[in-house]
Amino acid sequence: LNNGLAVTPPMGWNSWNIYGCNVDEDKIKQAADAAVSSGMKAAGYTYIVIDDCWQTSRAANGTIIADPAKFPSGIAALASYVHSKGLKFGLYTDAGYTTCAGRPGMFGHEVQDAATFAAWGVDYTKVDWCDHGTLDPQTRYSIIRDAIANSGRPMLFSICNWGVNKPWIWGPATGNIWRTTDDIFDFWDRVTWIIDQNAPLANFAGPTLGWNDADMLMVGNYGTGAVFGAGMTDTEYRSHMSMWAIMASPLIAGNNLASMNQATKDTLMNAEVIAVDQDALGKQGVLVSDVGGLQVYSKVLQTSGTRAIVLLNRTNASSNMTVNFASLGLSSTVAVRDLWAKANVGSFTTSYTTTVPSHGSVMLKLTGSEAATGAIVSGKTFRLS
Ligand code: DGJ
Repeated sequence: LNNGLAVTPPMGWNSWNIYGCNVDEDKIKQAADAAVSSGMKAAGYTYIVIDDCWQTSRAANGTIIADPAKFPSGIAALASYVHSKGLKFGLYTDAGYTTCAGRPGMFGHEVQDAATFAAWGVDYTKVDWCDHGTLDPQTRYSIIRDAIANSGRPMLFSICNWGVNKPWIWGPATGNIWRTTDDIFDFWDRVTWIIDQNAPLANFAGPTLGWNDADMLMVGNYGTGAVFGAGMTDTEYRSHMSMWAIMASPLIAGNNLASMNQATKDTLMNAEVIAVDQDALGKQGVLVSDVGGLQVYSKVLQTSGTRAIVLLNRTNASSNMTVNFASLGLSSTVAVRDLWAKANVGSFTTSYTTTVPSHGSVMLKLTGSEAATGAIVSGKTFRLS
């Protein structure tokens, strides 16, 4: 949606992956405090979003009511607290009759709820798709888009249609981001399952369109969160982060920000990796080669002659992997920087080879020259602008 609210993929934190339905105002305040003290805010994670289960019922006049036991101060006060930290505030709802946790949905109350959210100071709304019966998603999400636009307050609109109705087709006219798959869980095969669905959708995303949302980050949960899964290794979480960044996905952390270990901080707050996600050209990276699960992804960056690369090893053994510069549309000598090692590796001609651990990733920035116009390069990686 070309409303100026997501010219790069949004970044923030959401309560669902770590707390599920067990969310309350103290946890949200703690997340806001920790976003500041941990450096997450400075790294760009600016939205603090409450997911499902904050709401209980509607008043006689239809106004949505927050759970008084879990949010005794009210949502407006909580939004104001989040704003006082220099952060933005997000709130969840559902386009259907009830949310996935059975709380009141928006259906029939779109204008009223958008007005309530605006009055509370909401900057971002995530709108789920549970209990929708025979409702048409494009129609419902368009009604919500218009209700938000008429609410008088800018709100980033996150469409949580789980990819079931091809939201990448109608999403760019409707919302700022659209979920492309069913929910992420805290295990490696679920992450690769999402990558395989989200990566082919690159052409639907961009600064004036919106972003394919590969779901919220699981980094740092180690199986302790509210959603299913025994957890991942730091190597796997790093690959998860590498892939979300090269796919220009929203980066919405889903872990406890107050208790991050150093590995989690390093994975979530690597400025050069975040810069790939946030690159102003806004081209989602694509798969350029796959040899038995040894995959090379390439993202064209704004500066001419540069690419971000992820070498992703999905096999169960460490392996050498090679990136061929011609397949990326690059010619001449290429300077290679390793973004996780934060080191310049050197200058190479033709290709670069390195060792990638099982389930691991090496993320590179390449600086060279664009190949001559008309060069045969691999599909969609060729620079289009
Ligand atoms: C389904 C969504 O996909 C999740 O991200 C989360 O919002 C839950 N619903 C909440 O019930």
